[in-house]
Amino acid sequence: MKKISLPQQSKMLTSDFVFGVATSSFQIEGGAADRELSIWDTFCAEPGRIKDGSNGLVACEHVQHWRADVELIASLGVDAYRFSVAWGRVINANGQINQAGLQFYVDLVDALNAKGIASHMTLYHWDLPQYLQDQGGWLNRDTAYRFAEYAEVMVRALGNKVASYATLNEPFCSAYLSYEAGIHAPGMKNRSYGRQAAHNLLLAHGLALPILRKHAPQAEHGIVLNFSPCFAASSAAADVAAAKLAHAYHNLWYLQPLLTGTYPDLGDALKADELPKVAAGDLELISQPIDFLGVNYYTRTVFRDKNGWFSDVPPTKPPLTTMGWEIYPQGLTEILVQLKETFANLPPIYISENGAAFPDELIDNAVHDDARIDYYQQHLLAVNDCIDAGIDMRGYFAWSLLDNFEWAEGYTQRFGIVHVDYTTQKRTLKDSAKTLQALWLERAAQLQTEPAV
Ligand code: FCB
Repeated sequence: MKKISLPQQSKMLTSDFVFGVATSSFQIEGGAADRELSIWDTFCAEPGRIKDGSNGLVACEHVQHWRADVELIASLGVDAYRFSVAWGRVINANGQINQAGLQFYVDLVDALNAKGIASHMTLYHWDLPQYLQDQGGWLNRDTAYRFAEYAEVMVRALGNKVASYATLNEPFCSAYLSYEAGIHAPGMKNRSYGRQAAHNLLLAHGLALPILRKHAPQAEHGIVLNFSPCFAASSAAADVAAAKLAHAYHNLWYLQPLLTGTYPDLGDALKADELPKVAAGDLELISQPIDFLGVNYYTRTVFRDKNGWFSDVPPTKPPLTTMGWEIYPQGLTEILVQLKETFANLPPIYISENGAAFPDELIDNAVHDDARIDYYQQHLLAVNDCIDAGIDMRGYFAWSLLDNFEWAEGYTQRFGIVHVDYTTQKRTLKDSAKTLQALWLERAAQLQTEPAV
C-alpha cells in the first residue's frame, strides 16, 4: 500500500499541529424521529432536488452507532474530531430544550474526551430547523438572535469540554447556494436574498461569539469558510475582471467583514436593492476578533465574463474527482498566501475540510482508493508549503470520516476515508484511511517519546 509522508522537520509532525477527521450532523446522523425537521428534510422531499431522490432520514445512523464511531475515530490516531450539532435536535419548535437531544452531544463530547480526542464543534452546518424557515429563515434577521440563544444552550452545556467552537460552516453555501443559486435548501433564487442571508448569517456569528467566549473561556472560537482561488479563463480583460469579481463575491464577501468590518466594494456590479440591509452596530459585532479561521478547501475555479458578471467554466481536463472538481493542490497554498497578503490580521488557520470523492468499489472487504491517497499526500504537502510561506497553520481535518449524504448529490458521492454500506451500516476502512492511520499513529508514537516541555 502507498504511504503518506511529510517532511521530517515539518511542524505538522509536532504537537503544535492538530490532525483530525470531519463530519456534519445532517450528513451522518439519521435519527430523524428524535429531532425537528430541518430545511434539508423539506428540500429532499421535493421532487428533483436531490440527484438520487434520497434524504437524510437514516444516513449513516450515527445516532445509533456513535459509540462504535468514536472507537473508529480513536483507532485512527487523530488528535481531534470535527462534527456539527443539529440545531433542531437541541431546540424544539416551541423553544424548549430537547434534553435527550442535548444529552446526545454531551455524551459524544465526554466519550471523545475520555479517549483524548479534542472536540471541534460547529454549531451550524446548514440544517436550519424548518420552523425557523417558516418565519423566513436566514432572510429574517430574527434568525440570528435565535442562533445566539441556541449557541448559549450548547455552550452552557459543554463549556470548556469542547476545545474549539465554530459558529458557522461555509456561510457562502448557506447564503449563495441556498438563497441565490437555488441548488441547496431552501432552494431560493434571488440575488438580494443571497446577500441578505449572508449578512444575517454573519450577524448570527457576531451575536454568538461573546456568548461562547463567556461560557467557554478556555476554548478557541472562530468560524469556518470555504475558499477557492479564482482564475480567469483567458487573458482577455473581461475574463480577468470576471475572476476578480468572483473572488470578491465568493471569497472576500465572507472574510472581509469578519476581519475589517466592511463588505467588498463591487462598484456598480450590484444594484442598490441587491445590497444587504445592515443595521448600525452589525459590522462591529461581525468583526470581533476570532481565535481561528477554519478553511475548507477542495479545488480551484475558473471564470469567464458573462455580460459584466462572472460565469464558471467547468474543468474538463483530468484528473477530476467524481464531483467533477479539478485536483489542484497548489490552490490551497495559493489562496492562503493571497489572503495573508490581503489581510495582515489573518487569524491562525485550521484546514477544517479537505478531501475528494472517487468511484470507490468495495471488493473483498477492501477499497483500493489510491487516487484519494494521492490527493491527501499532495494536499498535506500544500499545507506544509503554507507553513513554509509563514502562515500560522494549526491543524488539518480530512473530509470525511465516513461516506455520507452529500447534499444535492445524495449518496452518489463517496467522500469518506471509511466506506459505509448503507444497507448494513457496516464501516470499512478504505486504503486511504489505513494510510492516514499509519501516518497518524506513527506521529502519535513519536510524540509520546518526546519529553514534555
Ligand atoms: C463542503 C461541505 C461539506 C461537504 C463537502 C464535500 O462544502 O462543508 O459538508 O459536503 O463540501
